[in-house]
Amino acid sequence: MRLNERKTLVALQGLGGKASVEDIAKKSGLAHAAVMRAALTLSAINLVKVHEQQWNVAALNEEGESYAQYGLPERRLLRALLRLGGEVDVNQAAQEAGLDAGLIPIALGWLKKKKWGEIKGKKCSSDLNAEPPLGDDEKLLAKIFEERSIIVDSLGRKLKEVLHVLRRRKLVDLEEKTYRELELTAEGWKTIKKGLKIIDEVTQLTPELIITGRWKSVKLTKFDVTAPGPAVYPGKTHPLQQIIKRAREIFLEMGFTEIRGPFVETAFWNFDALFQPQDHPAREMMDTFYLANPQAGRLPSRRLVEAVAKTHEDGWVTGSKGWRYKWSPEEAKRLVLRTHTTAETIKYLATYKKPPIKVFSVDRVYRNEQVTYKHLAEFHQIEGIVVDKRVTLRDLMGTLKTFYTKFGIEKMEFWPSYFPYTEPSAQAVAYHPKLKRWIELCGMGVFRPEVLAPVRVNCPVLAWGGGLERLAMIELGLDDVRMLYANNLGWLRRMPLCQ
Ligand code: PHE
Repeated sequence: MRLNERKTLVALQGLGGKASVEDIAKKSGLAHAAVMRAALTLSAINLVKVHEQQWNVAALNEEGESYAQYGLPERRLLRALLRLGGEVDVNQAAQEAGLDAGLIPIALGWLKKKKWGEIKGKKCSSDLNAEPPLGDDEKLLAKIFEERSIIVDSLGRKLKEVLHVLRRRKLVDLEEKTYRELELTAEGWKTIKKGLKIIDEVTQLTPELIITGRWKSVKLTKFDVTAPGPAVYPGKTHPLQQIIKRAREIFLEMGFTEIRGPFVETAFWNFDALFQPQDHPAREMMDTFYLANPQAGRLPSRRLVEAVAKTHEDGWVTGSKGWRYKWSPEEAKRLVLRTHTTAETIKYLATYKKPPIKVFSVDRVYRNEQVTYKHLAEFHQIEGIVVDKRVTLRDLMGTLKTFYTKFGIEKMEFWPSYFPYTEPSAQAVAYHPKLKRWIELCGMGVFRPEVLAPVRVNCPVLAWGGGLERLAMIELGLDDVRMLYANNLGWLRRMPLCQ
């Protein structure tokens, strides 16, 4: 038995074996709720019996309380009337009584009804020579005020009628209340007779208890640490942001440096510099968001633009035949919301070409796609390149395997693929255990000479880029990417603080 249960039993014994929860609380010094909790345990082990009874209880409302303190309006009017000589203008009497205008008709009505006075036109009068004693209504009002509430059935027939009048005057509210009484069972008496020691329990181990060594003699309360506590939802980073952060950390761990660029790029960097022909289907309005205002941006150096133009038209010095069409600088100037971060990669290579290079970006890209469970129009790409003298596709696969393994991807494969700017090209795929199918992680490959010659890079460039949200889906076990942007509070709360 815990301390509160023992205290409850002892108090109950002191009250003769049967008492209300209120009385036990008073006697034991425990809170009402603590007695109730103890009562539940004690009745479960059959030491007490809990009797419940519903009662109609009357209590004063705000107006009733004010009348209980200052007197009923008719009483106050009469007092004023007597003070002013027995006959006076109604308004003057009301002013003397300190009555609000709204209370005057009520006061006059009851003055007349109680035969304390008369109303003649604008005047009121009383021929009483002293204040009458308190009526039953006033006495009951005072009693309820003192006791805060009163059980209706505890009143006799006459007082019940008086209560009814107070209710009609809207001074009293009725409420149903449950009263609980506890009674010691035979078992309970036996336990008490055996003797119950009340030793105060200590609920918190303090430095003082430890220093003085008192912890050895006090009784420490036992806590049930398996009892469910309330759920707590602290503020935390959005799961997608956590994954972005993790992607950056992994790249940094692997010795890469971050690069970033603007969301708006010229088609030149987004497409042309990557040897994507100007009539390539990916450029069509279907996939790319073109800017309406301004429509065109600036092209880089003449030398670079001419080299790209020649490569598209006939292959230039690369040994390639090119795409065999008339390259248009106007088309290359068009501004787009970048469709991939490879635009930043190639822009970087146009300036920095001295190996070794290991750079990455984790950034936002845009595509004019119908938003579905697996497509978003605005999403993030993870992108990187490795540039060095003798690197090969094997190094690329090793790098990606390391990167995604650090992310926790277990089952991963490389499948052949195609991109206009890489040869060979491949894609890394991962098995989604929940969807039970393979999903694409990223595109990858070794940049073609048609891409490298114009930017004058003359060693192999291993490149890859892929959607971050796809990775997030696997990480978070989602079957709908839209969840990442839905701000569904329930889902956000259930997400662990750390992935
Ligand atoms: N840019 C490609 C995409 O958006 C990915 C890619 C990057 C492929 C680099 C090969 C090399 O899908």
